[in-house]
Amino acid sequence: MMKIAVLISGGGTNLQALIDACKDPAFPAEIAIVISNKADAFGLERAKKAGIPTAVVNHKNFDGREAFDAELDKVIRASGADFVCLAGFLRILTDGFVNGWRDKMINIHPSLLPSFKGLHVQQAAIDAGVKFSGCTVHFVVPEMDAGPIIVQAVVPIHQNDTEDTLAARILEQEHKIYPLALKLCAEGKVTVEGNKAIIRDEAHPDGALMNPAG
Ligand code: GRF
Repeated sequence: MMKIAVLISGGGTNLQALIDACKDPAFPAEIAIVISNKADAFGLERAKKAGIPTAVVNHKNFDGREAFDAELDKVIRASGADFVCLAGFLRILTDGFVNGWRDKMINIHPSLLPSFKGLHVQQAAIDAGVKFSGCTVHFVVPEMDAGPIIVQAVVPIHQNDTEDTLAARILEQEHKIYPLALKLCAEGKVTVEGNKAIIRDEAHPDGALMNPAG
């Protein structure tokens, strides 16, 4: 059973999707700890409700990113977690921290990477006039929103979409692909070869690409 730490900064709907997936005894991962850099993140309530240990590591209490990341690393390892899921965690991590969790840390991003990196990407996709966006689960590497792609879902953009309506449509798919990507990793079905994540899974022979109609 893979033990994971989930890092959040906010509402935690993706965390909730992972909590719900882990409730199934057949799911190959369990959440050892939920860590937030913000004490008022609603995701902490979700974790407590599910009986999952929580910790707050407030970046404001640390003198620089190295010290903050060192404490994060300590708290994660003390929990027994051997894999990390970033789920709306809004801090940039140091190269040292990221390299320490190489191929053992994944992130979810609300666009079809490598398009639309960074923040406010739903509005950026609308402004670019693209007809489809989506979401991506990828391994974390030092460069932001880069790293081998594990699973993506495609989401159409409608002409009357606002940032909020598109974000909501993408989130629905995020809640499906994050547990799927974690499951594939926990089952040892994902290997990193260069800048690609190779999936070996009969149910997802094309590398877990999903193409929902929604
Ligand atoms: C999601 O859109 C995720 O893709 C991005 O941050 C948002 C977090 O939402 N990285 P939530 O806290 O999981 O609801």
